[in-house]
Amino acid sequence: MQVKVENNQLFLKESIEAVAIFLFEGKLPAEGMIPVIGKAANGLIRQIWKQNDFEGKLYQTAILYPRGDADIQRIILVGLGKREDFSADKMRSAGAKAGQTALSLKVKSLAVALEAGELGLSWEIATEASVVGTILGLYQFTDFKTLDRETISEVELLYVLIQDNKNIPLVKKAAERAEKICRAVYLTRNMVSAPANEMTPSVMAREALTIAKGLKKMKTTVLEAADMKRLGMNALLGVARGSEEPSKFIIIEYRGGGKEQPPVVLVGKALTFDSGGISLKPAEKMDEMKSDMAGGAAVIGAVSAAAELHLPVNIVGLIPATENLPGGRACKPGDILKSMSGKTIEVINTDAEGRLILADALAYAGRFKPAAIIDIATLTGACIVALGDHVMGMMGTDDNLKTRIKKASEQTGELLWELPLWENYQDLVKSDIADYKNSTGRPGGAITAAAFLSKFVGPYPWVHLDIAGPAWLTKDQGYNPKGASGVGVRLFVQLLTNWSDVD
Ligand code: BES
Ligand code: MN
Ligand code: ZN
Repeated sequence: MQVKVENNQLFLKESIEAVAIFLFEGKLPAEGMIPVIGKAANGLIRQIWKQNDFEGKLYQTAILYPRGDADIQRIILVGLGKREDFSADKMRSAGAKAGQTALSLKVKSLAVALEAGELGLSWEIATEASVVGTILGLYQFTDFKTLDRETISEVELLYVLIQDNKNIPLVKKAAERAEKICRAVYLTRNMVSAPANEMTPSVMAREALTIAKGLKKMKTTVLEAADMKRLGMNALLGVARGSEEPSKFIIIEYRGGGKEQPPVVLVGKALTFDSGGISLKPAEKMDEMKSDMAGGAAVIGAVSAAAELHLPVNIVGLIPATENLPGGRACKPGDILKSMSGKTIEVINTDAEGRLILADALAYAGRFKPAAIIDIATLTGACIVALGDHVMGMMGTDDNLKTRIKKASEQTGELLWELPLWENYQDLVKSDIADYKNSTGRPGGAITAAAFLSKFVGPYPWVHLDIAGPAWLTKDQGYNPKGASGVGVRLFVQLLTNWSDVD
């Protein structure tokens, strides 16, 4: 998809297949405030409004076919709901509605007409939200469809249309940024959508290597099992034992900041398939466990976007990648593993494997003397029980870092909620015969998992994000079509964009 910013002279140059116009519920704005369109179209909008066939209700749509001076084949009206309830995130979902309506009409090029003043948003935010919403809402994963491929349609060109020329440079910049971020989200979604037989740890590693080759100030290093053994990453290797597929420890770095500037380390869980291991999961929905590498994929997407955007920060992405399978040499309940930190772990349940591979990755993160460590993981079903499908759980040890992440969440609409990590949870992860155990039973499962992780983090500001809910959606949700959401990418990019802001 290509994005272009134009003024309303575009209609005189080219025939436009579809123009989306966004309207609030209530009073129709005065003539000049309805963006771009010509007189004939304006008349049509006034007519449908007068007849109450379109009232601007939230995400309501209507299609109009104007005949007149400007060459516009279709107008897609999208309702924004009540003005007082409006937000940038509603703009994203409205953009998705416009895009999806255009797609259903098999339109190849779509223009979204914006008037930031009328929307009550800054030009940057109005542009970012409409472009991000439209592109993310148009995502389709069709790689494995071979039949009737000619019926698969795509919107190939997106115009952002504005009336006032003086805003064009500003809007262009915002649109370019949005486009780059969307490309990273698509990259992450594609990795998560791919089946586990295609997206193995080796393939993930190759993706990270390819990305680093194409971008400045980037480097990817891949540690093999022998390297991990030398480093003492026996918790990770313990999980990998049950699988024939080689495990990889992927290090993807972007150095956009000063030489001395300590990096932000992002750690992403990457189980390219989680069967549960010897503590085997039930068959129902086990297929969805191909998405248990969503944290790792989000880290790869975020680091690549940071490089594309030339953000002035140093970032290290660490992605422990393996399968969790019940092979003949698999780790068994009761086994004890000595992690890279030297601490021993009793494996009570082989299905609590994410925290095992993260234990070694978090210990490894200390090597970079980081400014902050943030891990992102589809870690616990308990987090879904606590917060539902749409919200990630946040736990951590550093209030400043948590505040920064909350701000990025508000800016991007990637919802999160903090769960407590009080001291009383810490005793629960102690084992009778080893230092710690990897499972403590059902109560507070999302929190006890975080308490376990905290044992392996050095003296660095640290936050853990549990994305078990939002990483894989079973229903369409605004600008996130069902399936892989790419959650975390936009949150991280925003956090890193804000990084040098003083508190
Ligand atoms: N990958 C799963 C968590 C998960 C469940 C993610 C559902 C997305 C949807 C994780 O490895 C797991 O199996 N966790 C166990 C932990 C338990 C054994 C302590 C869980 O949540 O049941
Ligand atoms: Mn598991
Ligand atoms: Zn898992």
